[in-house]
Amino acid sequence: MKKLSIPINLTVIIMSLKGRNFLSLQEYTPEDIRLILNKACEFKSNKKKESNDGFPLAGKKLCLIFQKPSTRTLVSFDIAMKELGGYTVILHSRDIQLGRGETIYDTGKVLSRYCDIIMARVYLHDDLIQLAKGSFPIPVINGLSDLLHPCQILADLMTIEEYKKELKNLNLVYVGDGNNVANSLLIGCSKMGINITIACPKNYEPNDIIINTSKQFAKKSNCEIKIMHSAQEAVKGSDIIYTDTWVSMGQEKEKQFREKIFRPFQVNTQILKLAQPDVIVMHCLPAHRGYEITDDVIDGPRSVVFDQAENRLYVQKALLYLLLKD
Ligand code: CP
Ligand code: NVA
Repeated sequence: MKKLSIPINLTVIIMSLKGRNFLSLQEYTPEDIRLILNKACEFKSNKKKESNDGFPLAGKKLCLIFQKPSTRTLVSFDIAMKELGGYTVILHSRDIQLGRGETIYDTGKVLSRYCDIIMARVYLHDDLIQLAKGSFPIPVINGLSDLLHPCQILADLMTIEEYKKELKNLNLVYVGDGNNVANSLLIGCSKMGINITIACPKNYEPNDIIINTSKQFAKKSNCEIKIMHSAQEAVKGSDIIYTDTWVSMGQEKEKQFREKIFRPFQVNTQILKLAQPDVIVMHCLPAHRGYEITDDVIDGPRSVVFDQAENRLYVQKALLYLLLKD
């Protein structure tokens, strides 16, 4: 049989994320995620240098749209883009024609004539899809929707790796509401081989479709997904405990009711005692102290929540760089 000789350059896989939307981690392979995390670490370790690689995004324009409030996402994207040499325009939907009924599709079409990339924080996930259709070929980044919060999970993966040295074979337990953060954690963990358990009250589980899709990813990366209804049972032996607000933006009317239902899902000292001694505690912030997390835990030695917040800057830099740079 004739031996097939493969030219060396064909065996090299060139990975580029240029021009892609970042609406969910679902469309990103573990290798894509690895590329973003590595670039983020590079930016973090270069932070003391005046600039990284000059100003690689000099002259590029990022438009940030907010239908909901934000501290971390707004500030970290704004600073990330400026440190890379680009510009930002920050739009709150109440101040632009979107708030008066201009469609999000038309808004995307118009913004694509001025900007190189758009980040949007919205209520309906479908709005991001419409925005991306309108702005094509200008990419759109999801800065949080009711369904997903993928930028947060990039920062979380980076933080986990900093503390635990690798992502595989860890047990992460998310305690609380099966919300946008829980949905994106399911996707991110299952892609990267982290065992993930969601401990939530009955009827507050993450999205069914996302659970099932994540189970497929988990099979590939050889990890496990569990949904449980007892925080105490779930956290036994865990390496990472993660929580988020019981009342997400847009759910304010349910506040009183939710605070009752979620009370047994508070991350406090008793819960921590059931985990591994070197457990780390995570929260995407903003935290509601005394509700989903107690002061002693968030301010305690196991908490890494402010590292997570800091790492938003580096993952966002990496994302902007990789989506825009040739
Ligand atoms: N975690 C997070 O996205 O925070 P902000 O709502 O302040 O952006
Ligand atoms: N689940 C929260 C996340 C805030 C960053 C919310 O959607 O309000």
